[in-house]
Amino acid sequence: MASQATRAVGVDIGGTGIKAGVVDLEKGQLLSDRIKVATPEGAEPQDVLRAVTEVLSTLGVSGETIPLGVAFPAIVKNGRTLSAANVSEKWIDFEAERFFEDGLGREIHFANDADVAGVAEVRYGAAKDQPGLTILTTLGTGIGSALLYDGVLIPNSELGHVQRAKHGRDAEAYAAYSAMEREELTWQEWAARLQWYYSHIEFLFSPDLFVVGGGVSKHSDQFLHLLELRTPIVPAVHRNNAGIIGAAALALG
Ligand code: BGC
Repeated sequence: MASQATRAVGVDIGGTGIKAGVVDLEKGQLLSDRIKVATPEGAEPQDVLRAVTEVLSTLGVSGETIPLGVAFPAIVKNGRTLSAANVSEKWIDFEAERFFEDGLGREIHFANDADVAGVAEVRYGAAKDQPGLTILTTLGTGIGSALLYDGVLIPNSELGHVQRAKHGRDAEAYAAYSAMEREELTWQEWAARLQWYYSHIEFLFSPDLFVVGGGVSKHSDQFLHLLELRTPIVPAVHRNNAGIIGAAALALG
């Protein structure tokens, strides 16, 4: 049983769902059920705060007794959210960390969702002891990315927003898992899009390892083998829980 000092709560706010759990930070595992609610339509700050309050109360951790990390799908710089791709534009240039702290009446740790998933995979998963450059991408509503060099995070890389010239839009609009769902693509059709995406990122960064996270990583056997890359590509060990685990890990420092 993890002692009080090695437990923290992680909340992973995504474009589609808000997930949370209590995490054993020695093992990097969930100690509680994984609580999930839908991200409120439009993802306005007040509505997201209400949903976060709800998941914390369902988890029974509304008090200040356990450290809390919150991950958000935007650029996060010094506690401010600077972008909004799949959430309300009100988050652009917004004092988000302070907003959550005021609303929840407690201190939190706040960071980008893909970055914390990267931290979880470095500490407890597929990128552990991995030398050189690991690029973790989350394939979900958008595409998130974490750049990790010799285990050190280079935050806010935003590689879901590289442009696809032919398509005239961000990569995530073409190759995120939401594009597969929206356009009812087969695994093969989607993999062709991922082939473009990962080849492009491989050309730009020459990484040593790709780690694929997000909800769809549990179906990695359906598409990863279809990709032809120089770089090894593996699913995130913690799949869609990497964000919760990484947010919690961040809360304890
Ligand atoms: C956002 C990123 C986020 C990613 C995954 C993108 O649209 O710009 O900040 O990490 O979605 O949620």
